[in-house]
Amino acid sequence: MRIGILNSGGDCPGLNAVIHGVVGAATTLGWEVVGFRDGFEGLLPPGDYMMLDVEKTIGIMKLGGTILGTTNKGHFVAKIGEGDVAEVPKEIVEKAKTTLKHLEVGALIVVGGDGSLTTGLQLYRMGIPVIGVPKTIDNDIQATAMSFGFDSAVATVVDALDRLHTTAESHKRVIVLEVMGRHAGWIALYGGMAGGADVILLPEVPFHMEHVARAVRARDARGLHSTLIVVAEGARMESGELVKKQTIGGGGEDRLGGIGDYVAREVEKLTGKETRACTLGHLQRGGAPSALDRILGVRFGTKAVHLIEEGKFGRMVSYQQYQVGDVSIEEAVNQLRLVTRDSEIVRAARSVGICFGDS
Ligand code: F6P
Repeated sequence: MRIGILNSGGDCPGLNAVIHGVVGAATTLGWEVVGFRDGFEGLLPPGDYMMLDVEKTIGIMKLGGTILGTTNKGHFVAKIGEGDVAEVPKEIVEKAKTTLKHLEVGALIVVGGDGSLTTGLQLYRMGIPVIGVPKTIDNDIQATAMSFGFDSAVATVVDALDRLHTTAESHKRVIVLEVMGRHAGWIALYGGMAGGADVILLPEVPFHMEHVARAVRARDARGLHSTLIVVAEGARMESGELVKKQTIGGGGEDRLGGIGDYVAREVEKLTGKETRACTLGHLQRGGAPSALDRILGVRFGTKAVHLIEEGKFGRMVSYQQYQVGDVSIEEAVNQLRLVTRDSEIVRAARSVGICFGDS
């Protein structure tokens, strides 16, 4: 048996741990593994790939990024803009099939987010035996309680907040930290809570600048002259407006960014307090995975191989109630896991005085 694996979409810490898990489990079964380069693009004839074995993957688990490369563009894009789905052209799928047949690859593991899994589902429906592995640094796929990369990203946010704390206090300033989170604010919420943020602004909880300013003033009145604000890149004002860095034509996803600067400007205007903004950006996606992400990656990778062994194609690996199981890819795509206003975690945050800009 020979199986294939590819990563698609944005990278995140833990991808190499998945590869390590896949190669380890496959080798134990006496199978061979073909790693396709640069996402689905590696499937185009003649195939851009490398043979993976235990020797070649020694030590990769601790490395960030992916040894296979990845892309969120190309011939196989099935998710366009905000939620629209496009069909991958039939001739492109046929080309992928030709490559897989030529290389005698009997099953394909697709490691990707919602968009890449949508592509994986289409390939499966068109006859390719696909297994999905969820990859989302934003942790926003409903069908898995947790995905690798998230824990490492949160650690980066906490480290940044710890550093910003000391400089904010020294200068009696407000500092706004912009973090990733397009539709879901989990990174901002977890990172903000663990890093001692005073205000957390999320895509799911529309905020009003006056409420944010009031929180800053209230802290000042209590003698707390510095304030840390964490804002997710996809946070929306009550007007529903998103701050974008670049609008992408032709159905691509717009590049978000700039909300941190906006919030900082407005806070300074409304409170008169000296305010600075800092954007964490891709620092959250790079670097070594945390211990938790390494373990999760290895468990996801080995589970994917075992699903192939059981012939459970069209399924996605999923983490639920401390166990790695599986769900249908169909069920998993298009279902975002979002923060809810009245959830226990948000109530806990409010109880310790964190403001969400909505009251
Ligand atoms: O979906 C993950 C994510 O990190 C988002 O939070 C962010 O908007 C996007 O990817 C950025 O991706 P890239 O810079 O690779 O286009």
